[in-house]
Amino acid sequence: MRKLKSWQKLEEHFSSIKDEEMRDMFANDPERFNKYSLTLDDILYDYSKNRINDQTLKLLLELAEEVNISTWIKKLFKGEPINHTENRAVLHMALRTQSSKPVKLDGINILPDIHYERERVKQLAEKIRTRQWRGATNQSITDVVNIGIGGSHLGPQMVYEALKPYTLHDINIHYVSNVDENHINDTLVYLNPETTLFIISSKTFTTQDTMVNAQTAKKWYLNKMGSEEFIHRHFCAVTANITLAKQFGINEGNIFKMWDWVGGRYSIWSSISLSIVIAIGSDNFDQLLVGADEVDQHFQDTPLEQNIPVIMALLGIWYNNFFASETIAILPYDQHLHRFPAYLQQADMESNGKSVDRNGKQVNYSTGPILFGEIGISAQHAFFQLLHQGTKLVPCDILAPIYNMERNLTHHHALMSNVFAQTEAMMKGRNEQEVTEELKAQGLNTAQIKALLPYKIFSGNRPTSTFIFDTLDPKTLGSLIALYEHKIFVQGIIWEINSFDQWGVELGKKLANTILSQLDDDDEVTNHDCSTNGLINHYKKKLNLPK
Ligand code: F6P
Repeated sequence: MRKLKSWQKLEEHFSSIKDEEMRDMFANDPERFNKYSLTLDDILYDYSKNRINDQTLKLLLELAEEVNISTWIKKLFKGEPINHTENRAVLHMALRTQSSKPVKLDGINILPDIHYERERVKQLAEKIRTRQWRGATNQSITDVVNIGIGGSHLGPQMVYEALKPYTLHDINIHYVSNVDENHINDTLVYLNPETTLFIISSKTFTTQDTMVNAQTAKKWYLNKMGSEEFIHRHFCAVTANITLAKQFGINEGNIFKMWDWVGGRYSIWSSISLSIVIAIGSDNFDQLLVGADEVDQHFQDTPLEQNIPVIMALLGIWYNNFFASETIAILPYDQHLHRFPAYLQQADMESNGKSVDRNGKQVNYSTGPILFGEIGISAQHAFFQLLHQGTKLVPCDILAPIYNMERNLTHHHALMSNVFAQTEAMMKGRNEQEVTEELKAQGLNTAQIKALLPYKIFSGNRPTSTFIFDTLDPKTLGSLIALYEHKIFVQGIIWEINSFDQWGVELGKKLANTILSQLDDDDEVTNHDCSTNGLINHYKKKLNLPK
């Protein structure tokens, strides 16, 4: 990749622009906002507060063309097996397409199967929402517990939290992911088995954390109810492994299908969202799909220079590979998006945290960034100090709604004033002259000003990209998620990596299984390194296991 012509031009260009100040760029170009912002339906994407000029964009777009991004977009949507290490297509977009045009995989149209499963999900959700679904003692369901982890947890939980105002408030949805017993125990303690429905969400139905939690839930149910007779009214599964779900004891009619062409972290559009459909209803869920499909159309049909995911990806490459920034911060100014950074962590870091290229060669350039984030307002009082005055360059994505549900402007103006102020502060900073004037106005003398000056200066020139949308409704949320999905895809293509496998999580899982079998007795363990042996033996000794 570093040998590409556009890459080399970008390297040269970087040396000439790296010290330019955004505050000067804005001062010299009053059209900068108009030039460097894009809209998609009600989403405004302002990328003008980035360390770029026309030439930067031109060269970044040349890079996108040189890696044949348009051809790759076509390959993706055509269902070619671009997840080559697992020999799989990547077709989560088929789950949200609003078109009836066949989507073929190995010559077979997959849409009828998708629609059939979605209809089943809708029917079950509707029965629960309308109190027709009855538990073992003929009571309706008041609590739904989704047991899953990774993509079988983060997506459903994030969407549930994001769309809370659209949920039925008398059905409580709980998410259990951690194999730490505290998670499931803390959840079960308030629940009544007669009115609880468990959804075991696992694409593979082999993930240890989920399986252990699922067994505990089953035991809890059986202990309380004393019989398996009506268990089918309280347990469902979403999985690609129907055999294992049946072996677990789930009634076939309660098993909702997933497919191997949907990656776990891209599965929010599938039956894995059963808990969400129960919470928000199928019409709202459909709107989530509509919003994502709109982005799919935009991504396929829009020229690269106006293509939002492409621009997002190119800016990410610019900072990651030229400015050598290692991180990106996701900062939603919408309380309901509080799980969005965690969701994007998996989406981005499990996809692009790779160091071997598509030809099996070690890469010699930086790939996926470390993504972190938090609700913007909370982060202001936690880690923004580092963003403003630390030694690291952390490009930030800021997301904020124009309207909030209750339209309470006292709150909303206070919130939004921070959005605008933070992006301005990060861009402009505060120079020596400005600080001096401010301190003088406060009545400080020359010596006091001199002593304080270095601490009060903000270098500025810190990039932010801002998304402003009307309100966080299902459609907009669907669009936002899909924008990031396609951004990740474009970056993976440029870095020449496979964004759709996740071999990096295998080793830990395998070792945990081996070690698990060594924890049941008090025999000393000797077959690991001395640190691992030491930790395991300390644990076993303290537990005082019987011989
Ligand atoms: O931890 C890796 C992973 O495989 C993720 O990619 C996936 O979303 C998660 O585990 C859960 O997997 P499953 O849905 O098969 O239980």
